Amino acid sequence: MRKKIVAANWKMNMTQAESARFVESLLLDLGDIIDIEVVILPPFTAIAKVMEALGKAQNIKVGAQNMHWERSGAFTGEISAALLRDLFVHYVVLGHSERRTLFGETDEIVNRKVRAAHEATLRPIVCVGETLEQRDKGNVDKILSIQLRGSLKGLSEKELQETVIAYEPVWAIGTGRNATPEQAQEAHMFIRHTLREMADDAAAERVRIQYGGSVKPENARELMSQPDIDGALVGGASLDPRSFVQIVKAARDE
Ligand code: 13P
Repeated sequence: MRKKIVAANWKMNMTQAESARFVESLLLDLGDIIDIEVVILPPFTAIAKVMEALGKAQNIKVGAQNMHWERSGAFTGEISAALLRDLFVHYVVLGHSERRTLFGETDEIVNRKVRAAHEATLRPIVCVGETLEQRDKGNVDKILSIQLRGSLKGLSEKELQETVIAYEPVWAIGTGRNATPEQAQEAHMFIRHTLREMADDAAAERVRIQYGGSVKPENARELMSQPDIDGALVGGASLDPRSFVQIVKAARDE
C-alpha cells in the first residue's frame, strides 16, 4: 500500500505572518494526521517560519519549490540542497512546469537537481506533464516517457522508490480546468508502466504519483480514488487552509 501524499505548493505567495496563520489553522484540523502524508511547500523566505509554527508536529513535512544542483559556491541567488537540509527540509519540488517554461529548465538540468537532492537525502517531487498542443497531437505518452527517462536518469532503485512523481498536465495548471479522473488515471498508469521499464516491478509499485492541476475540494476525492493516483500537488487551493484541509481529508476518505 502506498501512503497518499498531499502537498501545498504555495508558489510565490505567503508572507511569514500568513504562513504562520496558515499552519496554526492547519494544526487544528490535521495536528495528529498520520495516515496521509501532508507536505507544505512555502517560498524559501517562509520555510523557517513554517518550521517554527509546526513546532513538534513532525507528522507534517516541509519542502522547497526548487534548488540548485551544486553543493555550494558562487551561484548568486541560488539555494543548495545542503542549505535546505540546514532548515530541516524533507522534500524539494523539481522540474515544475513553471520552472521548465519560464526559466528554461531542461530534463538534463532537472536530472542534475534530482541526483543532488538524493545525495543530500532530500526527497524530490519530480513534475512531468504535457502541454495542450502535445495532448492534441496524441503525444502524451511520448512526452511523459522523455521527461521521466531524462529527469530520473542514473538513479538507483532505492533512490527511485524515494522519489515522488507529480503528473501535472500544463493545460490544467492554474486554469480551473482539471484533467478528468479517467485522463489522469491513464497518464498515471503510463507513468508507472514507464517506471517498471526503468526499474523492477516492486520498485515501480512503491513510487507515489501525485496529480496536480486545478485540484479543488470538489474534485479531489474522485481524482484520488483512482488506483494509480497517490495524492495531490495543490497550487491555488492550497493557499486557503480550509480548502487544503478538505483536500487532505478527501485523500483519507476515498
Ligand atoms: P493549481 O492547483 O493552481 O492549478 O496549480 C497546480 C500546481 O502547479 C501545483 O504544483
